[in-house]
Formats: sequence, C-alpha cells, structure tokens
Amino acid sequence: MVTTSSSSGSSRLQVRCCGASGCRSAGSEPLLASLQAARQAAGLSEADLAIKSVGCLRLCGRGPLLACDGPAGTRLYGAVPPDQAGSLIRAASGGAVADGHDSLADYHLSLEHPFFALQFPVVLEGCGQVDPESIDDAVAHGTYNQLKRCLQELSPKDVRDQVRRSGLRGRGGGGYPTGLKWDTVALHAPGPPLCGLQRR
Ligand code: FES
Repeated sequence: MVTTSSSSGSSRLQVRCCGASGCRSAGSEPLLASLQAARQAAGLSEADLAIKSVGCLRLCGRGPLLACDGPAGTRLYGAVPPDQAGSLIRAASGGAVADGHDSLADYHLSLEHPFFALQFPVVLEGCGQVDPESIDDAVAHGTYNQLKRCLQELSPKDVRDQVRRSGLRGRGGGGYPTGLKWDTVALHAPGPPLCGLQRR
C-alpha cells in the first residue's frame, strides 16, 4: 500500500523530477525519460498524470529527487534508478503495489525528517514547484505578479515608497539604499536615458 507523508494537497496527480544541476549529474534526465516512457506504456496521458522537470527539491545529496503529488499529499523519493520508473508511475497514479511489495520503500524520504520539517523557506518558498524552462508554468505559479501589480496598480511613488521601506540596499560594496537612489533619480526632470560605462 502506498502511503503519503505530507499534506501539500495538490488535487492534480503529478510527478516533479528535479532537473537542477545536482540531480542532473546524478541521472535525473534518463529518469525523466523513463518516467515518460512508463506513463505512455501504462496508457496514461499528461492530463492523467503530469510529469515535469523542476528546480531543486532541496536534498541535493540524495539525487535524483522526485516528488509525487496527489490529493492526499506529497511523497518524496531519492536516488531513484530509471528501472523503477514503472513502479513510480503506478504509485503516482494511485495504482496498487505489484505482488504486495513496495519496491519504492527503499527510496522513500520522509518529509517529517528534521531536514525538511525544520526548514521555513522564505525566498525559496516555491523551490521545486516550477519548470524553469517553461514561462507558462512560471506565470501559472505567480511569477511576475508583483511586476504586474507595480505596472497596473501602483504609482511610481508608491513603488519607491515600498522599496525605501523594505530597506533594500545595493550590493556593489557601499550598500547604498536603493529607495534613496530611486528617489534621487525621480527628482530630476525626465530626459533622454543616459548610460554610464566603466572601462577596465
Ligand atoms: S539539485 Fe536536485 S535536489 Fe537539489
């Protein structure tokens, strides 16, 4: 019996295969190809079970990593060889375990482990969700929402106020406050854009 170990709660059946450099070097590309072939062999379509390559799933040392999402939650696997693709497709699509033996048990990684459970990702909140090679997938996950808001809902002054309040600073060494810089530029009358080049 396949069990779930987290409650990310996607209503869509999908397999997310890490395609970041660490897992690529551990064999995620042949694994992804095997998964797609196994899905086809099982008579399933993309609509039945989505398979996609995503960014880092966080436990890079156990790659290639895979996350299977379903209505009951997410189940994570590490170091999965391509010859397990059929079992993965069966498990991810809610099928029964062959011969009552869960051949994926050895690859299962608990999301309750402190490595995952004690992390509270902020900047990396969406890591492992988006296909980095698909702009449509990125937009579907909210990428550019804030740019859209800045362009459609906020005035230039609102944007500068928020940047100033955020405390954002430049990273060129001086740590100059970005909001102050933008306010200074805004004080000057609009004119032709100027660009400064530094010759080394
Ligand atoms: S590179 Fe795959 S989990 Fe980080």
